[in-house]
Amino acid sequence: MKGSIIVNTDWEKGVINKNIYGQFAEHLGRCIYEGLWVGQDSPIPNTDGIRNDVAGALQKLNIPVLRWPGGCFADEYHWKDGIGPKENRKRMVNTHWGGVVENNHFGTHEFFQLCELLNAEPYICGNVGSGTVQEMSEWVEYMTFDGESPMASWRQENGREKPWKLKYFGVGNENWGCGGNMRPEYYADLYRRYQTYVRNYGDNRIYRIAGGANVDGYRWTEVLMREAGHLMDGLSLHNYTVPGSWEEKRQALGFDEAEWFETMKKSLYMDELITRHSAIMDQYDPGKRVGLIVDEWGTWFLTEPGTNPGFLYQQNTMRDALVAGLHLHIFHNHHDRVQMTNIAQMVNVLQAMVLTEGPAMLLTPTYHVFEMFKVHQDAQALATYAEVDRYEYDGDSIPQVSVSASKAQDGCIHISLCNVHPGESANVSLELRGLEEMKKISGTVLASDEMQAHNTFDQPERVKKEAFTSFQQQGQHLDVTLPPMSVVMLSIAPK
Ligand code: AHR
Repeated sequence: MKGSIIVNTDWEKGVINKNIYGQFAEHLGRCIYEGLWVGQDSPIPNTDGIRNDVAGALQKLNIPVLRWPGGCFADEYHWKDGIGPKENRKRMVNTHWGGVVENNHFGTHEFFQLCELLNAEPYICGNVGSGTVQEMSEWVEYMTFDGESPMASWRQENGREKPWKLKYFGVGNENWGCGGNMRPEYYADLYRRYQTYVRNYGDNRIYRIAGGANVDGYRWTEVLMREAGHLMDGLSLHNYTVPGSWEEKRQALGFDEAEWFETMKKSLYMDELITRHSAIMDQYDPGKRVGLIVDEWGTWFLTEPGTNPGFLYQQNTMRDALVAGLHLHIFHNHHDRVQMTNIAQMVNVLQAMVLTEGPAMLLTPTYHVFEMFKVHQDAQALATYAEVDRYEYDGDSIPQVSVSASKAQDGCIHISLCNVHPGESANVSLELRGLEEMKKISGTVLASDEMQAHNTFDQPERVKKEAFTSFQQQGQHLDVTLPPMSVVMLSIAPK
């Protein structure tokens, strides 16, 4: 396959918000417990209960923001159960996820500690579905009030003298479904009410995020923007990449090219969703003040055989790497409206960065994409134009190559490329328009010779990034050969 791509190195379109690289950690399966939190008494090396190996790996991703405690769990979570001496914390049933006991050992203090360790901004999702206005209001007071107040004093008794900084707060989750099965009109009114008591204390300024639509629930977006748009900073959107159907999902491994193609095509659907939700938001907010917050996205397959179906544990292959690359490119393109996204989820759940088994840990192909792409965070998106062949399968087709380019603050240009064809390489001529001379070009590639390629605890480095050298410079052009099913990052330092 041949293609030509123009990167306009002097045409800056706007900043790619680093929060597009956000993550999500829910009290679900082995994400929090075992994956992130093992407790101080665990033989697994930890820092105040947080796993050192997992935290160390995640630190390398420069995670800008972390959403917690759910998901569906958020609308059943009562934060007061998760503070104070651990032995006194309430044991409850995680009714939504696997019916297991939740001992509440990981609560507000532990979450902020995790964020500090990862240098990530906390994004807390409050309980609208089964919680009260008072409960939500007191949580914000507990976390952010500096001075004398019942909640601030309680926080101090529990060992935290100064308030934390909390910027991002979600008022409920999926309130059309697990968050209360509400109609948009009803939720819009509840949103207006609950957010009133999400106070800004001192100089802490909260960015309020309203629970948004599911997939193509355009009416939800319409009603929320119309009735409450002026009272929100962000509106969320959830969409998972599910080959097969929601009722009949497919496996994470053991798929064929038909499912590969279907997964790629469904990833590209995110572009249509953002375009159409944004068009509705534009009617009420033409200045694009309100951010579209895609705070749940990623692949959702059948759970790994032999694991608790309520734990949503799945393997992660080269296919997931390409799903991640395509989504991140789409989010970059919509940088004017998309202010944050949070892939679901960070550890051991759905499209995870890392998987753990007892004391062992592995990095997934998705992890490597996030690591390679972190240079795009807060960089200026550059205008690109691509003319590439299509990947045809069974009478259908999608573009074979996807590209995104950005300019970092130091002037370095980063170009990421995804070749979604599982069997064909792509020869791409890249024109770097506006760039007089290039000082140094380097590249990294994540590729494999097999669609199913993934890392296991026996073979944790089957899929890993490597140096990429399949390019040749011809003046302002770079002739690049992308291997089949690959993700490539080129870094170009100007003279
Ligand atoms: O990420 C798993 C679940 O998917 C979340 O809890 C929920 O919000 C969504 O339906």
